[in-house]
Amino acid sequence: MTVHNEAKIGEIAKTVLMPGDPMRAKYIAENFLEDAKLVNKVRGIYAFTGKYKGVEVTVMGSGMGLPSMGIYCYELYKFYNVENIIRIGSCGANSEEIEILDVILAENSYTESNFAKAMTAEDCHIIGTSGRINEVIKETAKEMNQPIRVGNMCATEYFGPYSDISPEKTQSLPQELNILGIEMESFALFYTANHLGKHAACLATVSDSAYRKRELTADEREKSMNGMITLALEAAIKL
Ligand code: HPA
Repeated sequence: MTVHNEAKIGEIAKTVLMPGDPMRAKYIAENFLEDAKLVNKVRGIYAFTGKYKGVEVTVMGSGMGLPSMGIYCYELYKFYNVENIIRIGSCGANSEEIEILDVILAENSYTESNFAKAMTAEDCHIIGTSGRINEVIKETAKEMNQPIRVGNMCATEYFGPYSDISPEKTQSLPQELNILGIEMESFALFYTANHLGKHAACLATVSDSAYRKRELTADEREKSMNGMITLALEAAIKL
């Protein structure tokens, strides 16, 4: 038990899937897991532990933004002996070549935030995934015939579509990093995992793009999410 999580030690699996939205965690538990049990509801950040193809997996919301992800993933790794966390979220496109509904697997996460400095006094703004989860996800996607885009992610402190300075900001991101997607959690997850010697990965479905005038229907959003969720679960049970 921690101040933010009432699950008992042992009630959380060694591999955790983290959507940003706690209601998405509930949806995954109800539609993909067997014998799912609600193990946390503090602040509405639901965590469910159940079985996927006989293997125990936990799904838990991370909330939005670096600080929220930072708290929950730290507690999972540090106090609940979690080994692997796979973020399954959404992101904006940062490149003309990225389509709405593409699924991006992050290799590195870049940020302009001082998250790392606040945590460890290190002036770090780019961090890779840690552990072998990415390799397993890539293999699994191939087996499932599911296309994924592999590349770099940027984690911002402000929701891009609401920013007055969004286009200029986007252009000021280091061009050599070839950033494919923009979201708000991956850096906190990767940095914490690296710091604690644990494993992390981030899959994100593209939900918006400054380069495309296309709104997603609820049905499209759900179906695309289902593909990403299945990929994450199939990879999770191999870890
Ligand atoms: N920016 C940041 N986070 C996001 C976005 C975005 O464009 N889309 C979905 N999450």
